[in-house]
Amino acid sequence: MRALQLDATHQPAAVREIPTPQPAAGEVLVRLHAAALNHRDVWIQLGQYAGIKLPCTLGADGSGEIVALGAGVTDLEIGAPVIIYPGVEWGDEQRAQGRSFRVLGMPDPGTFAEYSVVPAHYVRPRPAHLSWEQAAALPLAGLTAYRAAFKRAQVQLGERVLVTGVGGGVAQVAAQFCAARGAEVWVTSGDDDKLARALALPLGLRGGINYKTENWGRTLTKQAGGSFDVIIDSAAGASFDTLLDVAAPGGRIVFFGATLGNVPQLPTAKVFWKQLSILGSSMGSEQDFDDMLALVNEHQLVPVVDKVFPLAEGEAALRYLEAGQQLGKVVLTC
Ligand SMILES: NC(=O)c1ccc[n+]([C@@H]2O[C@H](COP(=O)([O-])OP(=O)(O)OC[C@H]3O[C@@H](n4cnc5c(N)ncnc54)[C@H](OP(=O)(O)O)[C@@H]3O)[C@@H](O)[C@H]2O)c1
Repeated sequence: MRALQLDATHQPAAVREIPTPQPAAGEVLVRLHAAALNHRDVWIQLGQYAGIKLPCTLGADGSGEIVALGAGVTDLEIGAPVIIYPGVEWGDEQRAQGRSFRVLGMPDPGTFAEYSVVPAHYVRPRPAHLSWEQAAALPLAGLTAYRAAFKRAQVQLGERVLVTGVGGGVAQVAAQFCAARGAEVWVTSGDDDKLARALALPLGLRGGINYKTENWGRTLTKQAGGSFDVIIDSAAGASFDTLLDVAAPGGRIVFFGATLGNVPQLPTAKVFWKQLSILGSSMGSEQDFDDMLALVNEHQLVPVVDKVFPLAEGEAALRYLEAGQQLGKVVLTC
């Protein structure tokens, strides 16, 4: 089969022929139709990810059909359209993942390939209203967004929510999910065109601002008619201070990433005087994945696919994601 592999950091990823894996007992073989990129794939290639083990087939997100069943798999059928849970071994504790948890696609072989073998309990029916590409866009971004918004920050109906960097794959679905649950959702982006496109999509967003605008926090708070009950962010860095300013008293700020690096300093008085909760969130459990899929199916939500590349152009897709021009997900057809 063909797979997009990375041999070493700071090297281009290359498509090569490797043996097609066979399912062992309890596993299924999935013929992948589409796989989505995540920023993680770029961080690995740049050597900016913990525990890098190469060579490896990258990719955490995949949709496809089951083409072979390992021994003992009796509850799934050949030909079933599925998506794959993008984590491995979360563990039994819902509060946090166990020590052996890892993201699919390094060190375990990932989804940027024609076939993938996964434990049978990691596949779920593909939401019937989604294409292969749309379904592939969902797993890691949807799971991360769902847990951050609803399990960690506990977004409620009617709350005013700010999602920063709406161009990002996770941020886009986070905004969409919160709007679907009846929150009043506002967004930021570093690109006026991207912001305008996001607001024009049927995602249920109230408005937004470019985070490169001077005093954007004050301007957005005025536009929104008040400060934010919940803020969902993956930039961190120096922008954190503005998030503290635009958070409502008693508000929750949840982070799932730190694209801009660590927060340089924490003005603790703003945190304790405003009674703020600062929360961390990462990926999610299989239970979170099921809950996310239930939300997607209930509201017939469709994640935004920005651009589709063939597997053979996987390296170009990684460079496209790194350049940050996308609104939503970048997807490979396998
Ligand atoms: N902990 C986890 O489980 C987990 C899961 C998924 C992702 N992540 C992390 O979360 C981050 C986003 O991941 P992704 O896959 O969604 O990435 P992505 O699709 O490549 O998007 C990059 C994001 O960065 C935003 N951004 C860049 N500079 C910014 C700034 N100065 N202020 C605010 N936002 C800024 C972009 O917003 P605009 O384009 O709109 O400006 C966009 O939302 C990455 O750091 C990733 O490693 C963590």
